[in-house]
Amino acid sequence: MTHAEAYREAEREVAALLDGVNDPIAAMASCASILHARLPQASWTGFYRVVAPRLLRVGPYQGPPGCLEIPFGSGVCGAAASRGASLVVPDVHDFEGHIACDPNAASEVVVPVFDPGGNVVAVLDIDSHQKAAFDESDRSALERIVALLTPCFAG
Ligand code: SME
Repeated sequence: MTHAEAYREAEREVAALLDGVNDPIAAMASCASILHARLPQASWTGFYRVVAPRLLRVGPYQGPPGCLEIPFGSGVCGAAASRGASLVVPDVHDFEGHIACDPNAASEVVVPVFDPGGNVVAVLDIDSHQKAAFDESDRSALERIVALLTPCFAG
C-alpha cells in the first residue's frame, strides 16, 4: 500500500467510526488508534488538549508515555497550538525548544484541531524515530483527517 493509500484508508476509517459521534475523547482515541496502526514510521501518535488558556495536557495516544503538560509556545506542539497552524519538523534537534519526551524522537508533525468556531481545542502530534519521516503530503492528509474531528467539539 502506498503512503497516499494508507492515508485514504485512515480517512475512510476515521470518517466511518466517527459517524454520529459527538464525544471528543472517543473521537481522539479512535483517530490516534487508526493513524498509529496505519503509519509504520510513527513512534507516538496522539493528542494534546487545550485545558486552560495557553496550556496543553496530554489526551488519548498510542505509544510510550508522553509529557503531561506543554505550555503554548513550548516545543513543537506548543508552537503549533499558539500559531494555529501545522508544523512539519524533519529534525527535532534543529527545532529550538523541542521537548524530548522520548530521547529517540527524530522528527514529527503537529496539526491543530479546531472546534466549529475556529478555536484551537487540541493538537495531533505524530513523532517518529526516523529523520524526515513526514513531509507536506503528510501534513495535508492529516489536516483532512483532523478536520473530521471538528464536529465532535461542538460542545
Ligand atoms: N515532541 C513534542 C512533545 C510531545 S511528545 O514527544 C509526545 C513537542 O516538542 O512538542
